[in-house]
Amino acid sequence: MFKKLINKKNNIKIQDDNLDLANIPEHIAIIMDGNGRWAKNRKMPRIKGHYQGMQTVKKITRKASDIGVKYLTLYAFSTENWSRPENEVNYIMNLPVDFLKTFLPELIEKNVKVETIGFTDKLPKKTLEAINNAQEKTANNTGLKLIFAINYGGRAEIVHSIKNMFEEMQQQGLNSDIIDEAYINNHLMTKDYPDPELLIRTSGEQRISNFLIWQVSYSEFIFNQKLWPDFDEDELVECIKIYQSRQRRFGGLNEE
Ligand code: FPP
Repeated sequence: MFKKLINKKNNIKIQDDNLDLANIPEHIAIIMDGNGRWAKNRKMPRIKGHYQGMQTVKKITRKASDIGVKYLTLYAFSTENWSRPENEVNYIMNLPVDFLKTFLPELIEKNVKVETIGFTDKLPKKTLEAINNAQEKTANNTGLKLIFAINYGGRAEIVHSIKNMFEEMQQQGLNSDIIDEAYINNHLMTKDYPDPELLIRTSGEQRISNFLIWQVSYSEFIFNQKLWPDFDEDELVECIKIYQSRQRRFGGLNEE
C-alpha cells in the first residue's frame, strides 16, 4: 500500500515505496513509445492509443511532481513524425489542446510550470495557442518543469544551434576560441535545464530516436517493457529504483 507522511519539521515527504528521496533524478526524460501497439492489441485505431497515452502523461506528471522531480521532458512529437498518416498527425496535434483543457487547473494547483522544446512555430495555430496559454498561466510556478518536446529532433536542434552560434560569432567578431561545451550548451533549446540523469523508453525498443542526443551523453538509460499507455506510477518508481541502484562514473572510477 502507498503511504505518504509529512515530516513537519523538515517538510520532507516520506513514502513507503522504498525510494531514496535524497537521490531522485533531478531531470527525467521519457520516450513515450508503444501507443500504436497498445491500440492494435485491442483492435482499436492507433489514435485510441494516443488518447490513452495522454492519460498516462497525467499520471506520470502527478507522480514526478509528488516525489520531487524538478524537470520532466516528454518526447511528444518528433520532427520525423510528420510523415505519419494525416489523421494521426491531426489527432496528436490536438492532444495538447485536450490535455490542457482538462489538466491545466491541476497543473496550476500543483505549481507545475509548462515549457516546450522544439520548433513550435511550425505547429498548428490551435496547438500553439493552447501551449502558449498554459505557459502563460504557469509562468510563475516554481515546482516541476513539465517540458514537452514537440516538433523536436536532436539533429535539427544542433543544426539550429550551430546557425545561431555562427550568427552571434559573426556579429560579435568572435573566433572559434569561444567554442567549448558550455558555449554549445548555452545555445541549445535545453539551455535552461540540467542534462537528464535518467532516460526512460517504454515498449521495449532500445533506440534513442533523435531525442536529446547531445544531452544524454552521461544519462542512465532504462528500457521499460510496458507500452506507454500501460506505464504507470509504480513503473516510474521501479525505473527510479533501478537508477538508484546504478553507479554513475562519468568516465572516472568508482568512489571508495
Ligand atoms: C509513440 O508511440 C508515441 C507518439 C509518437 C506520440 C506520443 C504522444 C503521447 C503519448 C501523448 C502526448 C500527450 C500530450 C499531452 C502532448 P507510437 O505511436 O510510435 O507507438 P507504436 O510504436 O506502438 O506504433
